[in-house]
Amino acid sequence: MTTGVAKLRNVVGALVLLAVTVVSPLAMAQQPKSVDPTASAVSEQQLLQQFKTIQGRGSIPDTKSYTIEQPAGRDWRHFHEVTLRVIGGVAILGMLGLLVVFYLWRGMVRIESGRSGRTIVRFNAAERFVHWMTATSFVILALSGLNITFGRPLLLPLMSPAAFTAWSEWAKYAHNYLSFPFTLGVILIFLMWIAGNIPNRIDLEWLKRGGGMVGHDHPPAYRFNAGQKLIYWVVVLGGGAIAVSGYVLIFPFYGTAIETMQNASIIHGVVAMLFIAAMLGHIYIGTIGMEGAFEAMCRGTVDINWAREHHSLWLEEEGARRRTDSSQPQPTAAPGE
Ligand code: HEM
Repeated sequence: MTTGVAKLRNVVGALVLLAVTVVSPLAMAQQPKSVDPTASAVSEQQLLQQFKTIQGRGSIPDTKSYTIEQPAGRDWRHFHEVTLRVIGGVAILGMLGLLVVFYLWRGMVRIESGRSGRTIVRFNAAERFVHWMTATSFVILALSGLNITFGRPLLLPLMSPAAFTAWSEWAKYAHNYLSFPFTLGVILIFLMWIAGNIPNRIDLEWLKRGGGMVGHDHPPAYRFNAGQKLIYWVVVLGGGAIAVSGYVLIFPFYGTAIETMQNASIIHGVVAMLFIAAMLGHIYIGTIGMEGAFEAMCRGTVDINWAREHHSLWLEEEGARRRTDSSQPQPTAAPGE
């Protein structure tokens, strides 16, 4: 009797082995019919290792929804909940820390020769409008995007679930709709300032001399110095990457498969964190980091001495241009405002 049972067990065992080795590749090819994700005898982990995905059956037309789990989905979730938070935390807090240390050590870069009281136009109204449209959209996109990554662990404990839901819903609408002025702004910035942002050998010299940020040096620069050119290309390339990946996410599965969606999400998240960190540096230098810089984008004019110290070659060019073009109004050299 015992040997009979043992024999039967061996036969069953052999059949199971046969089923696993021969039938499972077929089953993999025939999903979803072959998999019962609710079977108690198989663990989720076994299923994930054995099959590419766990799929069920459905009655709605969207067959994608029949996929219940797939290993790449778990990798993506881990990326979204752990890796991206680490990347974002290090990039954003690291940059903030660096800026605080730098400010405490260097303080504001002053106009060394003092204000002359005469100004020159640096950005016209159209340029300033495009800058502020892009910047405002960017800030709201950044805050609403950060809410997607960090809202749950950081904000939810501080507010009621209903309040968090309402805020997240508005933030998501803002994120979707402000993508349009942001993208338009990036395109216009690309076209508007490309001429002044092609790297040249003056940039090497500027970089070698640390941009004059350390000490009292004033390396020459045309309209945009190497630091500004770097920011320009971060905006154009980073903005381009974030817009393309963002639209893949906004319009899901329009010619894209789940893998493309996951990759778009990863690219979008990582570029966003680095972009935010870079923009913190830009905002710093445009406000408390350098005297006289903010007014360039606010009023559109800068003091002549500021221009001489930070963009001497541009000032010379402007002077020469105005001297040779008599139709041009003389430098908006106006009495100190
Ligand atoms: C054309 C512009 C943009 C479009 C179309 C766009 C679209 C999207 C979409 C559809 C999502 C996924 C939302 C969700 O999961 O419900 C997202 C997430 C996100 N976006 Fe944007 N976005 C744009 C620009 C930006 C900018 C400029 C930033 C910040 C600098 C940003 C930061 C983020 C962040 C941090 C996330 C969350 C990533 C994650 O946790 O996985 N986005 N965006």
